[in-house]
Amino acid sequence: MLCFLSLLLFTLSLTPISLSQPPPPRALLINCGATTETIISGRLWLPDTDFITTGTRINFTQNVLHPTLSTVRSFPLLPQRKFCYVVPVYRTGKYLVRTSYYYYGGSGEGELPPVFDQIVDGSFWSVVNTTEDYGRGDASYYEGVFRATGKSMSVCLASNVYTTSDPFISGLEFVLLGESLYNSTDFGNSSLRLVARHSFGYNGSMISYPDDQFDRYWEPYGENTPTVSKGTNVSIDGFWNLPPRKVFQTQWTVNQPRSMEIPWPLEPLRSSVYYIALYFAEDTGASSRTFNITINNVTFYDNLRVPPTGIALFANRWPLSGLTKIVLTPASGSTLGPLINGGEIFEVIPVGGRTHTRDLIGLNGLKNGFQNPPFDWNGDPCLPKESSWTGVTCSNGSNIRVTGLNLTGMNLLGSLSPNVANLTALSDLWLGNNNLSGSIPDLSTLRMLKTVHLEDNRFNGPFPSSLANIDRLQELYLQSNNLTGQVPSSLKAKLGSNLRVDPQNS
Ligand SMILES: *[C@@H]1O[C@H](CO)[C@@H](O)[C@H](O)[C@H]1NC(C)=O
Ligand SMILES: *[C@@H]1O[C@H](CO)[C@@H](O)[C@H](O)[C@H]1NC(C)=O
Ligand SMILES: *[C@@H]1O[C@H](CO)[C@@H](O)[C@H](O)[C@H]1NC(C)=O
Ligand SMILES: *[C@@H]1O[C@H](CO)[C@@H](O)[C@H](O)[C@H]1NC(C)=O
Ligand SMILES: *[C@@H]1O[C@H](CO)[C@@H](O)[C@H](O)[C@H]1NC(C)=O
Ligand SMILES: *[C@@H]1O[C@H](CO)[C@@H](O)[C@H](O)[C@H]1NC(C)=O
Ligand SMILES: *[C@@H]1O[C@H](CO)[C@@H](O)[C@H](O)[C@H]1NC(C)=O
Ligand SMILES: *[C@@H]1O[C@H](CO)[C@@H](O)[C@H](O)[C@H]1NC(C)=O
Ligand SMILES: *[C@@H]1O[C@H](CO)[C@@H](O)[C@H](O)[C@H]1NC(C)=O
Ligand SMILES: *[C@@H]1O[C@H](CO)[C@@H](O)[C@H](O)[C@H]1NC(C)=O
Ligand SMILES: *[C@@H]1O[C@H](CO)[C@@H](O)[C@H](O)[C@H]1NC(C)=O
Ligand SMILES: *[C@@H]1O[C@H](CO)[C@@H](O)[C@H](O)[C@H]1NC(C)=O
Repeated sequence: MLCFLSLLLFTLSLTPISLSQPPPPRALLINCGATTETIISGRLWLPDTDFITTGTRINFTQNVLHPTLSTVRSFPLLPQRKFCYVVPVYRTGKYLVRTSYYYYGGSGEGELPPVFDQIVDGSFWSVVNTTEDYGRGDASYYEGVFRATGKSMSVCLASNVYTTSDPFISGLEFVLLGESLYNSTDFGNSSLRLVARHSFGYNGSMISYPDDQFDRYWEPYGENTPTVSKGTNVSIDGFWNLPPRKVFQTQWTVNQPRSMEIPWPLEPLRSSVYYIALYFAEDTGASSRTFNITINNVTFYDNLRVPPTGIALFANRWPLSGLTKIVLTPASGSTLGPLINGGEIFEVIPVGGRTHTRDLIGLNGLKNGFQNPPFDWNGDPCLPKESSWTGVTCSNGSNIRVTGLNLTGMNLLGSLSPNVANLTALSDLWLGNNNLSGSIPDLSTLRMLKTVHLEDNRFNGPFPSSLANIDRLQELYLQSNNLTGQVPSSLKAKLGSNLRVDPQNS
């Protein structure tokens, strides 16, 4: 319900700029570190306080490129810990997620921006390295396409081995994409990490909303002499990826029927598989323009005859490594040179998995029962493996279960939620030496329990006799509480000296 209402709200609260423009994207725009709402180019940016509970807001008053970049949220450098934004989403919605970073200078003179990881739900997304952009005075943007697996989606930052100062973030955007966009990718198994998106032969400022209804960023790629066309007016409705019309209004071409070599993307790629979409539209009405396309000498498409209505060519999982060169070679007999209008390339990255739903319910119940849950109890509890929640241990393999919970001596206040009963793979439950009160809930569903430590708390109510039926139980510490009732004699016999209770219970 929260999800639906919030998204509706975002849609309604965006003021349309004019009737001829497409409706604003169904988007959630978060201005990290801000305390008030801002409307920029008719779009609403929310402060981040409803979406995150940790970190420090930093407001630096210097001239910046974009109003949202003047505040950031910064997080302490803590290895193995992630800091997560959690936002409401449509379950199974396909989202374009964009993070932006504009370094605020850190705390020390001449400090370089930190390098760290970004994570979506349980999956590693990419390393954030803003050093080069910072050197040029630019902001850095990262974009990916991810499928929501539940009613919320998390984007987290985590330190990695290169991190030497506090990770931070300036902006976070979630745009709901149409179902047909990038639909040749199986988003159940993979996500897309944007490498480059260009409008060829275009030398203006970046193309985005409202030209692109999903506010994707199309950068100018104006190599050689760009040929600005006579304004090809292509209907984009037939394109699954719904590229902006504007991309078809400029092109990169050559006058003679000779080969064109396009170094694209410009940066060397790591060895992986990539999703590639190339966009073309004929602007002359000519029908004799035919060419072959190769990528690093491998045939991508032969005898392409570009129609005036435009065409898009896709590759779902194209292996690439290092520098890439696209070559367009006119077919013999073609009287015109090749042309190209736009291109998108994404790395196909694996979905890292997700903690079992029952464990998510269990841990979120526990979190709600604690008045002061650990600061990092957001995002996926088990994944990525190297940044699971404080005190949580998990199983390996494809069915990720919570096997251990150890929050000994964390000064926890509050109660032990009955939802602990959902953690059915739990073998060790250690919550000793805290300030938990209330009664101990029914634990009889926790058939895997081996050790239970709830000592040194303020639990009251009856002794948890539900534990008597757990075969695997080897160790039970309940002393220094205020429980009533007697230990079942079967437990006494089974546990022997591994049973510790207050005198009134024995
Ligand atoms: C940032 O600080 C300036 C000056 O102190 C203040 O006017 C502005 O409202 C602050 N911005 C935010 C988003 O807190
Ligand atoms: C970050 O980027 C800079 C500039 O490109 C590079 O010199 C540096 O090695 C990178 N750092 C890491 C940890 O990759
Ligand atoms: C992608 O979406 C288009 C338009 O809805 C549809 O025609 C096509 O079959 C879809 N492709 C896949 C692989 O689902
Ligand atoms: C996606 O993952 C599932 C489970 O691992 C597997 O059965 C399926 O074949 C995968 N699909 C693709 C297209 O890789
Ligand atoms: C783009 O290219 C056209 C034609 O070469 C030129 O007239 C125009 O000034 C250029 N615009 C920019 C922003 O460089
Ligand atoms: C392009 O075509 C659309 C309808 O297909 C029309 O609304 C628009 O005005 C046209 N634009 C130009 C520049 O001709
Ligand atoms: C492509 O082929 C040309 C000649 O056929 C060769 O010189 C070049 O090294 C090849 N490039 C790649 C990336 O394989
Ligand atoms: C284009 O591809 C076709 C089909 O593979 C091939 O016969 C033709 O020689 C190629 N043309 C050029 C100019 O490479
Ligand atoms: C998970 O796998 C790692 C090595 O891949 C191993 O060290 C660890 O003990 C395993 N954990 C469990 C709970 O099986
Ligand atoms: C739980 O944490 C405490 C304190 O850090 C430690 O002494 C104990 O061995 C841990 N228990 C398990 C099962 O790891
Ligand atoms: C989770 O635990 C609660 C309380 O014990 C129970 O009502 C609910 O059915 C459980 N849900 C699942 C999915 O196990
Ligand atoms: C223990 O519980 C009894 C009633 O159940 C209460 O009277 C007493 O004050 C409690 N003692 C402590 C130390 O909380």
